Amino acid sequence: MAEKFKFGIVGCGLIAPHHAESILAGSNSKLVAVCDIIEEKAREFAEKYNLEKYYTDYRQMIDEAGMDIVCVCTPSGNHGEIAVYAANAGKHLLVEKPIETTREKMDEIIRAVKKNNVKMNSVFQIRTEPAFIAVKKAIEEGRFGDIILADAYLKSYRSQEYYDSADWRGKWELDGGGALMNQGIHGVDILLWLAGDVESVFARVGTKARNIEVEDTAVAMLKFKNGAFGIIEGTTSVYPGQPKKFEIHGKKGSVVIGEKGIEVWQIEGNDEEKAPQLHKNGDDTANDPGKFALTSHLILVEDLTEAIENDRRPLIPPEEGRKAVDLILAIYESARTGKEIKLDWR
Ligand SMILES: NC(=O)c1ccc[n+]([C@@H]2O[C@H](COP(=O)([O-])OP(=O)(O)OC[C@H]3O[C@@H](n4cnc5c(N)ncnc54)[C@H](O)[C@@H]3O)[C@@H](O)[C@H]2O)c1
Repeated sequence: MAEKFKFGIVGCGLIAPHHAESILAGSNSKLVAVCDIIEEKAREFAEKYNLEKYYTDYRQMIDEAGMDIVCVCTPSGNHGEIAVYAANAGKHLLVEKPIETTREKMDEIIRAVKKNNVKMNSVFQIRTEPAFIAVKKAIEEGRFGDIILADAYLKSYRSQEYYDSADWRGKWELDGGGALMNQGIHGVDILLWLAGDVESVFARVGTKARNIEVEDTAVAMLKFKNGAFGIIEGTTSVYPGQPKKFEIHGKKGSVVIGEKGIEVWQIEGNDEEKAPQLHKNGDDTANDPGKFALTSHLILVEDLTEAIENDRRPLIPPEEGRKAVDLILAIYESARTGKEIKLDWR
């Protein structure tokens, strides 16, 4: 077998171990270097994973450490500068969600990935869960008919201590937003993936219970391009948080995905049909940001190395990764202006 793909990680915080463990567990991947602007964090991380090299400057790591793939695990609002630098150095990318926090910076990432002919996966790990894949397939096959309503309820709990635990959390500059841009974004992505692109949105956002710059609560009313309507409710301030819930209703049936996987699967004329008994990958982040299984990150690592080897499209390229961010930015714009905002996705 050819040599394994070499990975480097930028940002050794909360999410970085999920990348490291997935790379170690991967069939075709190995970790060669890590970087954090806080030297102690980089050193400790390197020691834990028996790495010879650690860095405090991502440019130096990318230039010197001889890696094929860079995992971007830093605060959201600097993913772009790191991803663009890495792509320009010919490195492939695994970029944490949100891939960036502004349209301009997402454009720059997409341009750099295309220009340098590298592959990138965006980390929306819930897309890899069997329950959601089964629902997506059934919707595409028209099992529930044309969609009428598609809703996402994304109610989590983050304490003030959580927001105070790192300088960037809850700040516009590097978090790019709050209950939606950081926590709810996984659910926004899933809703778009299942129900299709949104044409326009009307929204309200507010900061109800935390001392943060960004929103801790948001409600949005959606019109999808396919004509369906929908609702997103997102918060980080309800105790003790609730499992994410998605409700999709078509002209021929309904599907609800919640804590236990597919909870409702009803198709007109087929009332005896059972919901596929498919598990989720162990995501339970309503109350704890780090509480999700390794499986999904591992699938994205394996998918990326396969995509590079076979020169195929990865599961979640940046054009896909940007969609939830574009919708959230439109939600913020609607709340700011009091107007319905049309989305203009390329
Ligand atoms: N996929 C998921 O479910 C999931 C879960 C948690 C976090 N995330 C995402 O991962 C990213 C990081 O979040 P976190 O909770 O791990 O944050 P964190 O604050 O725990 O870790 C970020 C680390 O990046 C380092 N850093 C900052 N700027 C840097 C730079 N220029 N170069 C090198 N290191 C730098 C910081 O010192 C810190 O150690 C965010 O974008 C977040 O949205 C994703």
